[in-house]
Amino acid sequence: MGDEELVTALEELRLAVTKEDFVRAVLSGRRRNMQPEHERIDLRPVQIKDGIQIQVSYSDGRQMTSKNFLVADLPFAQFSQSGYANILVENEGETLSLRISKKGAPLFSRSKNSLTRDLSHDKSKKRLLDASDPFLREVGIADANGVVKPSKIDKYKQVEEFLRLLIPTLNDAIEAGHVRRPTVEAPLRLVDLGCGHAYLTFGAHQYLQAEGIPVSVVGIDVRPNSRDRNNAIAQNLGIQKSIRFLAEEISATSVNEADVAIALHACDTATDDSIAWAVNRGVPLTLFAPCCHHDIQSQIKVAPEPWSMMTRHGIMRERLGDLITDSLRMQLMKLAGYRVEAIEFIGGEHTPRNLMIRAVKTGAPVEKEEVERYQSMISMWGVLPVLAGKLNR
Ligand SMILES: C[S@@+](CC[C@H](N)C(=O)[O-])C[C@H]1O[C@@H](n2cnc3c(N)ncnc32)[C@H](O)[C@@H]1O
Repeated sequence: MGDEELVTALEELRLAVTKEDFVRAVLSGRRRNMQPEHERIDLRPVQIKDGIQIQVSYSDGRQMTSKNFLVADLPFAQFSQSGYANILVENEGETLSLRISKKGAPLFSRSKNSLTRDLSHDKSKKRLLDASDPFLREVGIADANGVVKPSKIDKYKQVEEFLRLLIPTLNDAIEAGHVRRPTVEAPLRLVDLGCGHAYLTFGAHQYLQAEGIPVSVVGIDVRPNSRDRNNAIAQNLGIQKSIRFLAEEISATSVNEADVAIALHACDTATDDSIAWAVNRGVPLTLFAPCCHHDIQSQIKVAPEPWSMMTRHGIMRERLGDLITDSLRMQLMKLAGYRVEAIEFIGGEHTPRNLMIRAVKTGAPVEKEEVERYQSMISMWGVLPVLAGKLNR
């Protein structure tokens, strides 16, 4: 496929967006040496007073802004030529996907889908988890009437926001060929590490299934009583064939494969165990929201100058320790061939532990500067992250 075919493919995508059965489009990823203005653009049709318009949502890490365009005024060609590596356009019945490789080679594909157009205006406010879903009652988040218990609202929101990120991240990774497309015969293998009461584990299972993604979910927690409780809930819900729980240490689990690994607040170095488990097995997509950290903080004896102006204050020392820990975790993942981002997955009012490390294994070659950057960081602070040992670095 050459330049001419790229132009033809872009025109076909543009026309698909203007059709009456247009469902959604996503532009994401970055072409080599190009810098689109936004990290990602999502398009969808919306019904407003004066008729149907296209809602364009621009995402930049934490921030999202939206603007509506008349179909005739939509600057789609401008978006599609601004440097995105992946462009997905879905109409009712057909998905078009264009991927532009690092070398600039375009790969255009089309496949069938069973989507229907949804014109409801504010999709962002849509609840992902129906409070009356029996799983929420079974796990103890909702009461017998299907109302979220006041004491569980924060956990419910954490799970929901975690899932809100999981689906688009997963879809992008599938589109980009980093995660294989799940089928009924070979469902998506998702592992939740340090699953505890399994609010997220069950939530991911239910939500992915509702989205039409076949799944096989495993929840791992060291506590046998969690395993027994969660397996009993799975039985009650009649979903024990596609979700199961094990009482195992993350670092010694009998599970050896996954397409997606998740962890929500796996305590202290259990997050390092989770990262190491996923990296050492080449899990292609990981979403980890770390919990409390003690590893690096306890190693920092003397801060390199002039950083003592921060570390002399307890609260700042603690926060800096958290940031250094997570930065080193991310860098170690980068050195293992992952593309890694830190994102705020939920507002701080629901949990102070609201940072998520999201990583996709791309296998990109590791640049020498990144190795040097990691080494200079650990030597400057005089620390050795526990994760380094688990990754044999
Ligand atoms: C703070 S809870 C979070 C539970 C759950 N992910 C959630 O967000 O509701 C952390 C869980 O990790 C488990 N855990 C801690 N260290 C572990 C390890 N090394 N292996 C397996 N599970 C571990 C604990 O038993 C606990 O249930």
